Amino acid sequence: MKRRHLLGLGALGALGLWAMRPGDQGRPHTAYFADLQSLLKQEGGGVPQLVIDLDHLDANADLLAQRLGKLPLRLVAKSLASNGLLDYLAKRLTTRRFMVFHQPQANQLAQAFPDADLLLGKPLPVAAALAFYQQLPNGLGFDPTRQLTWLIDSPQRLVQYLELAKALQKPMSIALEIDIGLQRGGHPDAANLAQTLRLLADNSTLLQLRGLMGYDAQVAHAPLWTDSQQAFTAANERYAAFIDAARAFPAIWPRQPLLNGAGSLTYPLHAKGPTPLNEVAVGSALLKPAEFDTPLLASHQSAMWIATPVLKVQRGPLPYLQQAQGMLEAWNPNRQNAYYLYGGGWPAEPASPAGLAYDGIYGRSPNQERLIGSATTGLSVDDWVFLRPLLSEGLFSGFGQLRLLRHGRLVGTWKPQPAA
Ligand SMILES: Cc1ncc(COP(=O)(O)O)c(C=O)c1O
Repeated sequence: MKRRHLLGLGALGALGLWAMRPGDQGRPHTAYFADLQSLLKQEGGGVPQLVIDLDHLDANADLLAQRLGKLPLRLVAKSLASNGLLDYLAKRLTTRRFMVFHQPQANQLAQAFPDADLLLGKPLPVAAALAFYQQLPNGLGFDPTRQLTWLIDSPQRLVQYLELAKALQKPMSIALEIDIGLQRGGHPDAANLAQTLRLLADNSTLLQLRGLMGYDAQVAHAPLWTDSQQAFTAANERYAAFIDAARAFPAIWPRQPLLNGAGSLTYPLHAKGPTPLNEVAVGSALLKPAEFDTPLLASHQSAMWIATPVLKVQRGPLPYLQQAQGMLEAWNPNRQNAYYLYGGGWPAEPASPAGLAYDGIYGRSPNQERLIGSATTGLSVDDWVFLRPLLSEGLFSGFGQLRLLRHGRLVGTWKPQPAA
């Protein structure tokens, strides 16, 4: 009796465990990726490519424009780091406003877009501001006094910029960073803002106040005990309190101040309103890398892929674990094969064929990335694999060019901005 009972339990237990066994997730490419693979086999040159799907990009841009209505847009240059891409989007979205986060990029943009309006998205050390002026060629047509707004996060930094403006004898346009809940620095409260405003009021010929910048990414990451709508309202109330503090300085507060805020994660909330902003900064949502898969951005489409050839298809055994392979793949059919890619180490997740995964036991490689998958993925040597980037920021400069896909054809290239 005892023996039968034990056997019964054992069988049930084994069944339970078996039920949790990962199923075969391998699929061949969908039609979209099968077509793209055919193109790249002919025109991909056999090396990893960053492909921008212009149809999806257009759809994202049109959705953004439609949601924003009359609310002006500033393109976040660090998330769209290609002059061709920025130019294309600036035309389609009729804006010349860019947000910039890196001194060399500010110089590149001033050169490439001499009619641009540049706003710094973070406060730069004053030495970097000096480098901007030193590296700006004469006769560009870009006038930093009118077209570049430096971001100041504290009274102390304002004093440094004042010294620079005096030394260069160049008036500067200034926006003040305010902390509306992100806790990433900037003026923490109205009293602190008033200190900077007093300094500005005393030096208004050299430093001209343009407005405020308050970023609210925390709203999209609201914890369980609150919700995004509540967090959004709280951030807007903080923003409004800073505006009130600035209005107490009517001599320097512009009649039409710049009130910048938001980002891809929160622009739909500001577009719906009410919002204290008169400008939103958006970049990533136009390409929608995987970290932007949020409910608010559900209608945006992924518009970029890393595509790379398969160099080798192997049975799945791991070093030192060859003997265990039979057991490992009986348990997990997605360990049947290992696919070694041309390149790797990108901040990206395998997208097509479905069912591919990094091998957590083997690790990652920037040279020949190993993906595992079942035999039903049907991949062979010289086929292509597609990965979806997690982020667009910092990605482009690792590729010589961006390949442009339109209506199922490769129609051109854009150059990434050089890593600087
Ligand atoms: C100040 C500021 N504004 C806006 C953004 C939004 O950029 P994106 O739309 O690419 O997320 C960021 C992102 O880091 C930021 O730091």
